[in-house]
This record gives sequence, structure tokens and C-alpha cells, in this order.
Amino acid sequence: ILLTLLMLVAAYLAGSVSSAVLVCRLRGLPDPRTQGSGNPGATNVLRIGGASSAVMVLLFDMLKGAVPTYIAYRLGVDAVALGLIAIAACLGHIYPIFFGFKGGKGVATAFGAMAPIGDDLALCLLASWVVLVLISRYSSLAAILTALLAPLYTWWLDDRFTIPVAMLSTLIIIRHKDNIQRLLRGEESKMSRKKHSTS
Ligand code: G3P
Repeated sequence: ILLTLLMLVAAYLAGSVSSAVLVCRLRGLPDPRTQGSGNPGATNVLRIGGASSAVMVLLFDMLKGAVPTYIAYRLGVDAVALGLIAIAACLGHIYPIFFGFKGGKGVATAFGAMAPIGDDLALCLLASWVVLVLISRYSSLAAILTALLAPLYTWWLDDRFTIPVAMLSTLIIIRHKDNIQRLLRGEESKMSRKKHSTS
């Protein structure tokens, strides 16, 4: 129980490191919380900074979820506690203690946290998100639909984690409330990339 508590705190603190804000600061870009969708996540950094900055944010945010859950898994923590550790990492990303509790939507971090469950699940989630983005061009819609599919895939591939994954998916979908409203109004911005200046 002590190990689980320590891992919960560590996961929350790791999640609280807002890589979108830090990468933008390091690269002299505007604060992602004040530009585009205002979301400190890879999609918005893609809009304001371009692909290389977005990839850095994506990788770092995935690691924030993957590392704590992977370590806990290796230490033999049970499935329920693993789920709570994954949720703690996402809550850190969404409500970061180091960034005034104003964080992102948890998509990359939740994906990172689910990936250690198995390569097959990670592949299903990644493939779903990519196909849905290619079809719809909306990063948010792809994330929402992939979050809906995640518990089904998990139930199919590794039933032990269905409930924790469903909890993570619920968190992500709730966090996309504004995106859902914009999608319904037809006002959501499509996934776009800042073009390199040629001058
Ligand atoms: O990862 C967040 C994504 O699903 C939506 O981002 O910036 O379009 O609100 P954004």
C-alpha cells in the first residue's frame, strides 16, 4: 500500500510537468495556453510551433503516463492500483501542480499509460486514432472516439484492465467537453500544422 501511495504521488508529479508549455518556452514560441485552442498539448503545439515541437511534446507527454505505470507494473502492483496510478498521471497532466492547475486533455498521457498493458492494445489505439484523424481531420474527434473504443479493445485483449481503462476514457471524454460543443456547432478547428516560413 505504501508503494502504491508513493507511485500515485510520483505519477501525479510527473504528469504535472507540462511539456507543451516548456517546449514552447525553450523554442521561443508563444505560450500554448494563450494561442490556438488554448490547450497545452501536442495538437495545439503543432498549430503554433510546427511538427518537431509537437513531436517532442507528444513523446514527453506519453512518457509521463508510460514510465510510472510501467515501473509500477514491474514492481508487481495489481491491476486496480495500476489503473489508479495511470489516472494520477493523467490528473497531473490535466491539473498540473506546477502550472496553476491549468493543463491539457490527457490524450497522449493516457495513451502512454495504457500502452504498457500490451503492444496489441497500443497498436489498436494508435491505428484507430490515426485512421480517425485521416478521415475526419479533427484531432479531438479522433481522441474522443478512440477513448470510446479503448475499453472495448481492452475487454477483448486483456480483461483485467477494462475498468481502469474505462475510467481513463471517461476522464478524457469529460475533458473534451468544449471540443464536443465546438464539433456539434461545426466550429472545431481541424488538425493543422504551422507551415515553415520560406522567406
Ligand atoms: O489532445 C487534445 C486534442 O484531442 C484536442 O486538442 O487543441 O484541438 O483542443 P485541441
